[in-house]
Parts: sequence; structure tokens; C-alpha cells
Amino acid sequence: MDGEIGLLSGGVRNLIAATATPSLQLTVIIPTFNEAENVAPLAAKLDKALSGLNWEAVYVDDDSADGTSDRVRELARVDRRIRVIQRVGRRGLSSAVVEGMLSSAAPVVAVIDGDMQHDETVLVKLYAAIADEGNDLAIGTRYTEGGSTGEWDESRVKISRLATRLSNLLLKNDVKDPMSGFFAVKREVFVEALPNLSMVGFKILLDMVASVPRKLRIAEIPYTFRSRIAGESKLDSKVAQEFGALLLEKMFGHIVPVRLLMFAAVGGLGLLVHLATLGAIVRVLDIDFRIGQSIAVFTAMTFNYILNNSFTYRDMRLRGARFVRGLFTFYAVCLIGAIGNIGVGEFIYNMHYRWWLAGIAGAVVGVVWNYAASAMFTWNRK
Ligand code: GDD
Ligand code: MN
Repeated sequence: MDGEIGLLSGGVRNLIAATATPSLQLTVIIPTFNEAENVAPLAAKLDKALSGLNWEAVYVDDDSADGTSDRVRELARVDRRIRVIQRVGRRGLSSAVVEGMLSSAAPVVAVIDGDMQHDETVLVKLYAAIADEGNDLAIGTRYTEGGSTGEWDESRVKISRLATRLSNLLLKNDVKDPMSGFFAVKREVFVEALPNLSMVGFKILLDMVASVPRKLRIAEIPYTFRSRIAGESKLDSKVAQEFGALLLEKMFGHIVPVRLLMFAAVGGLGLLVHLATLGAIVRVLDIDFRIGQSIAVFTAMTFNYILNNSFTYRDMRLRGARFVRGLFTFYAVCLIGAIGNIGVGEFIYNMHYRWWLAGIAGAVVGVVWNYAASAMFTWNRK
């Protein structure tokens, strides 16, 4: 009777209210970049495929110019299960997925592409593999029996398999399709991975598996990759580069920062450029050594700056006026570095160590200084 319920304390009443609505079971994260035409059709497919579950969908859109975010809002107004996170001034599939996951309160979180290339009817199986069968992670895979890459051309299949082999060198777990962008994970496992995630590039699954310090219970569930109907793929050459950076970081990142490794490699190339320029000027053009040396120094510094700006700092690349300003701070940093290099080398040489040891010591000090100082003054990292 009403009177009796009125006697219950507030806490108990809230408890009743909470158990009356079944609790959230699954959040589906959908990273999108220019997928406006796919938003509503995918939501309809999810609605059908997930009818037995209490789910929600979070579209994480990187401020697409085609109005993807607004399309999601149109749906969200009439369907409380749907939300959008519109990110401004940021790009990247991995980081988008992570942000979506952070916004979830569900015990299981899944990721599916926003272009309907992944088979949404597999989502319930991914969910069950975690919620019912106790796995940490369930991956939609193209590489077991029953799964397939659909209509991919041969070269893309080959590249994908090569990347898979490389990745498995790195993982404690044997995963058949570590490149998959289609999976579900126990939220606690995601939280475990969180502090170690690199979030570089496309490969959030690989990143996550490599970031959890223990062996995981993984289920792999086959599906067939569909062809795209609307919109276009965002996979380009940058993705391969980012994949390389992710592998490097996961292999060596705990010893030396990958940026420093790349910076030093660029420095090595710069030395070759320096020598080639100097040789050309002195031997071929027959110009004075001092002048040749100065021209070579600036050529090599400019070369290093451009390479570092395109690769080492590709995620914070300087453009336009900031590019020019960056170049001059880079010159300043390197010139101070050279003075340090010579100073330290001379100091060690004077202590009667071998000439090559003194040379190496000077070079190491120079590289580390250039790296640290250019990070601060040229690329403005905190
Ligand atoms: N928020 C956000 N930000 N979303 C992005 C971004 C980004 O920078 N780049 C791509 N997306 C979204 C796309 O809109 C799409 O929904 C999904 O991520 C996958 O992007 P596609 O461009 O369609 O990738 P794909 O089909 O070539 O690659 C798929 O297969 C690969 C397997 O080789 C993806 O599932 C990859 O994750 C997967 O590794
Ligand atoms: Mn796609």
C-alpha cells in the first residue's frame, strides 16, 4: 500500500527505483570521422541486433565537417540510449575510442566502426563471451575459420598479415587479429591498461593488449568484413607510420622514449647530410673550408628540423608562421648544443681519455641537450 511505501527511508526507496530499471550492460563506442550518412542506418542495425540487452551507444566524432555529430544529436533527442562526444581540435581513432570508454559506466564496453563494415550481429556474442563466459576481452576476428576479410584486395590482405606477425612478436598473448577495430572488453581490464596506453594511431586493440601487464583471457569470434557503402576509408600512409611508432614505443618505450630514439636517428642522417654538403662545397666547388663548414651546418640543421617536424613530432607538427619560428629556435638550440658538445668532448679528452670516447661523450650530451631543449622551445612540450 501507498502508506507503507511512504514509511520506507529515502535510501531504500532509491534502491527500489534503481532495481526497477535493469542496469546498463553494454556501451558500444563508435568512432566517427565524416560518417554522416552512416549514423542512422548503423543505429537502426544496433537497435535490432542488441534487442536482448540493456545497451547504449556513444559516437565519438572528431568534429567532422559533414555534420556527423549533429546527425547523432538528432537521434539522441528521441533515443536516450544514444549519445555523442564531439571532440574539437583533436584527431585519432585510438584516442577517440579511449575517450568514449572513459565516458561509459557499463561493465562491458565494445567498439565498432561507424561505417557498417563490422558485423553488428556479432556484438551479442562478444558481449556474452565476457559477461557469461568470463573472458577479459572478446575480439571480432577475420582470421579464424568462419571469418574473412571479405572483398579486400590481395595487397591489403598481405600487409595486414605482416602487421599481425609483427604485433605478435610484441604481445604476451597470441592474438589472431590484433589489428581488429572490432572488439569488446571488460571495463576493469580497460582501466588496467589505461596508465600504459600510447593512444597513437589506429591500433587501440593492440595498444591495449600490450598495455596490460598480465596474460588475458581472450575469445576470438569470427566475422566477415563488409565493404563500405557510404563515405570513405581514413586509412592512409600515415597509419603505417603510426603503427611503426606504436610498435617501437611498446618495445623500447620503457627504456628510452621513442621520440628520443627517432630524434637521434634523424641526427645520424643529419650528420651524413652535413658531410655530403661539406664534401660538395669543398671538393667540387673548391670554396674555403670555413665557409663550407658553415653552410653544411645550416643545411644539416634545416634538414633535421624538417625531418623531426614531419616524423618525430608528426602529432604536434608546426605549420605556417609557427614553422618559421620553430626553425629559428631549433637553430639556436643546436648551436648551443654544439658548444656543449665541443666543451664536454674537450673536457673528457683533457682528462686523458681516448679521443673517440671523448667524441662520443660530447655527441651524446649534444643529442640529449638538443632533444630536451628543442622539445621545450621548438615544439613547446611541457
Ligand atoms: N573519431 C575518429 N577520429 N574516428 C575516426 C578517425 C579519427 O581520427 N579515423 C577514422 N575514424 C573512424 C571512421 O569514421 C570509421 O568509423 C572507423 O573509425 C574506421 O575507419 P576506416 O577509415 O573506415 O578504417 P578502415 O575500414 O580502413 O579500417 C578498419 O579495419 C582495420 C583492419 O585492418 C578499422 O576497423 C581499423 O580499426 C582496423 O584496424
Ligand atoms: Mn572502414
